Amino acid sequence: MAKIVGGLASSHIPSIGGAMAKGLAQDPYWKPFFDGFPPAREWLSRVKPDVVVVFYNDHGLNFFLDKMPTFAVGAAKQYANADEGWGIPTLPPFMGCPDLSWHIINHLVDKEFDVVTCQEMLVDHAFTLPLKLFWPGASCPVLTVPICINTVQFPLPSASRCYRLGQAVGEAIRSWDSDLRVAVLGTGGLSHQLDGERAGFINKKFDLEFMNSLQDNPAWATQFSIHELVEKTGTQGVELLMWLAMRGALGTSVKEIHRNYHIPISNTATGVIALEAT
Ligand code: DHB
Ligand code: FE
Repeated sequence: MAKIVGGLASSHIPSIGGAMAKGLAQDPYWKPFFDGFPPAREWLSRVKPDVVVVFYNDHGLNFFLDKMPTFAVGAAKQYANADEGWGIPTLPPFMGCPDLSWHIINHLVDKEFDVVTCQEMLVDHAFTLPLKLFWPGASCPVLTVPICINTVQFPLPSASRCYRLGQAVGEAIRSWDSDLRVAVLGTGGLSHQLDGERAGFINKKFDLEFMNSLQDNPAWATQFSIHELVEKTGTQGVELLMWLAMRGALGTSVKEIHRNYHIPISNTATGVIALEAT
């Protein structure tokens, strides 16, 4: 059966793509952010995943307000990026893993998560940039399975629903008849609000409490409703649901290998974490 080696989470911000394209990793503004990644990459070179299952939220590239699935799973042979209007160079397509995608989809529907299945799927900055940060080569060397969670248009799924989605995805991966090694990635957050009266809102205390909960008290954030999470983390801070789904997939026992937290990049409090499944 397949093995889950551990999980990763990272913020995703379009301007990271521009900074990478311009080689700004050592620039004083960017250095505290980019310095958060080499230790996670060292860990990856040790645990050597073949496949990464990615919880992320699309921002209007593949799904728009007219058709907004709560949960959608990619089941394509490859996933292309497209111009989102940020002026970031597009990347070569990411290789899919249809066998694992369909195994996850079948398990999720069996567990009463009625997901949208996508045999074609464009992936936006929330998918491409964290993969590029963790695997910076010319093309991504691991197979990918995108799982998209709606954080764009209300109603949003609750924190406990996302945690349970992650648990069901973890069960599916562990029951996949394959020798491959699987990592789980969640991208988004941490606290940020891009619009409205509270634009620029950041909540360091909450972000750190959330990061602290992930190793030993992973369901901590499920005590909050979506509206409480918006209040505590900002309208886009609810993207932390992706971290929660990732943690749900890892099972009971994990060890934190690495973390970084830096404020701000653009309007966002950025976090990175690597958790090894033990
Ligand atoms: C920013 C953050 C995001 O999560 C995003 O999807 C787009 C922009 C920002 O801080 O600029
Ligand atoms: Fe985002």
